[in-house]
Amino acid sequence: MTEDAGSTTLHGAGDRPSAWVCRWGGGLPPDADVIDVACGGGRHARWFAARGCRVLAVDRDSRIRSTLGGVPGITCEVADLETGTWPFASRTFDCVVVTNYLHRPLLPSLVGAVADGGLFVYETFAVGNERFGKPSNPDFLLRPGELLAAVAGQLRVLGYEDVMVDEPRPAMIQRIAARREPGRGPA
Ligand SMILES: C[S@@+](CC[C@H](N)C(=O)[O-])C[C@H]1O[C@@H](n2cnc3c(N)ncnc32)[C@H](O)[C@@H]1O
Repeated sequence: MTEDAGSTTLHGAGDRPSAWVCRWGGGLPPDADVIDVACGGGRHARWFAARGCRVLAVDRDSRIRSTLGGVPGITCEVADLETGTWPFASRTFDCVVVTNYLHRPLLPSLVGAVADGGLFVYETFAVGNERFGKPSNPDFLLRPGELLAAVAGQLRVLGYEDVMVDEPRPAMIQRIAARREPGRGPA
């Protein structure tokens, strides 16, 4: 869930992809399988698909069917990720990307969805963001070290930040890029 729900436009529509996602995702092979979790307007799904990746774009908002459904390389799946079990338990992905979305109970499934040798790229708001506006509900703000704890013992951390940013607006952000070491297999 996200606190700023209620907008009439798809979140992220028209936005530029995150520099963090581009930095780490840019190293993927062109035919990689990517899942964009809570994809919104699909800024990352589109960016990966433009690079030749096969992208599964998932959101509960059915408008993704019309906004992303016709984009080459993107498959859309409308799903509420907060009711019941993770719908992609039988699959793993070369890259699991999540931005500006947090539903804590999903974290183990998201980490578990990273394929052998695959990447986990996550960026969302962190504790302290309440000083700047929404999201301010602690349910939607990562606690210090929370992404590190989520991957501990499973993925090797390539990059991690817990920082205040100024762009596109002042915010507290936590982000991680981590890899499942080849040969260790999914959790
Ligand atoms: C702030 S937007 C972020 C969109 C995109 N990840 C980005 O950064 O541009 C949050 C997205 O989470 C989706 N979302 C919220 N609750 C959800 C749920 N229970 N299941 C699936 N998607 C959900 C919303 O529909 C929305 O598109």
